[in-house]
Amino acid sequence: MDVFGLAVAAGGDFLCAAAVDAAHELGLYARLADGPATLAELAAAADVVRGQRRLGALCDVLAATGALVRVAPGEARFAAPTSPPPRPVVPRAGWGLLADVIRRDRPLPPEGGALERRYQLHLARAGAAAARELAPLLAGPSLLDLGGGAGAYTAAFLAAHPGATATLVDVHDVLALAAVELAAVRDRVRLVGGDARVAPVGAGHGAVLLSNLLHLHGPSGCAGLCAAAARAVAPGGVVVVKDLRVDEDRGGPLAGLLFALNMAIYTDEGDVHAPFRIRTWLEDAGLVVVEERRLAAAPDAIVLLARRPTAAGSFPRSAGSPGPDLA
Ligand SMILES: C[S@@+](CC[C@H](N)C(=O)[O-])C[C@H]1O[C@@H](n2cnc3c(N)ncnc32)[C@H](O)[C@@H]1O
Repeated sequence: MDVFGLAVAAGGDFLCAAAVDAAHELGLYARLADGPATLAELAAAADVVRGQRRLGALCDVLAATGALVRVAPGEARFAAPTSPPPRPVVPRAGWGLLADVIRRDRPLPPEGGALERRYQLHLARAGAAAARELAPLLAGPSLLDLGGGAGAYTAAFLAAHPGATATLVDVHDVLALAAVELAAVRDRVRLVGGDARVAPVGAGHGAVLLSNLLHLHGPSGCAGLCAAAARAVAPGGVVVVKDLRVDEDRGGPLAGLLFALNMAIYTDEGDVHAPFRIRTWLEDAGLVVVEERRLAAAPDAIVLLARRPTAAGSFPRSAGSPGPDLA
């Protein structure tokens, strides 16, 4: 079975079908019938007048599934496969509007309301095992959980560190949900509403966590969030980024590429950022990246651990319990 078949078998069939449908609608196969083309050439053929980021995310998915061929690893130059996939029938909603989103370079409106609430609760339940696995890496006695959502990571941290406290930052609507979810440990949690880049969170936290936060933002937003984390962490403390994973050459894994395309559809600038970009934002904020890990409970995720040096310029090399060090 090819990669496209594997994705279908794994349940990504609708998403992959929507990607192929968009490729047909944008005329990518018609253009590639004349020979290989760069992303810029495909954009011109598809009437994508502004921004190629969304089209790039589509081509990454198509290439990872065999619906396009990447001419050389890491290069944004593509050819048609020997037999291009036939155009599937896709309903004109959500991912079915992909070609339109790419042409207009404008995201679909966020779902909001009850759907957003259900999504946050789903994230908290689905993330509980990863949160438990990550908790020992977060040194006590105080955690700052930026974009903490309904609080799965804060809850796991407080369970793993009985004497510790936590500060969770998120937008006001989401904080109401966090207050309910964290009711059992409410006396150990401070909830702060607002933009995590500027919210009054204090300083000297032993650990700062950015879990599934950076993918909602573009480069300048990510740089600002990493800078906020660096300001808030104590000297010698740890900043942990956990997020979806894509390879540096954006050749895979498919789950990360599909998620990146989802961000291209639903956010202004969101993306699944390659590890070297996250490292750069952390290092530009004055932190020292000490480890890159994977989580058994979330194989599609990456975890980067960075330390704020002490005044003497030293920091512990490792945080918490040992794990596969991929740095
Ligand atoms: C995908 S959820 C992740 C929630 C939680 N950290 C987790 O991993 O399960 C991202 C959260 O970040 C919040 N968020 C995004 N940008 C933010 C910002 N600039 N300031 C505060 N919260 C933000 C969103 O409201 C959302 O609750």
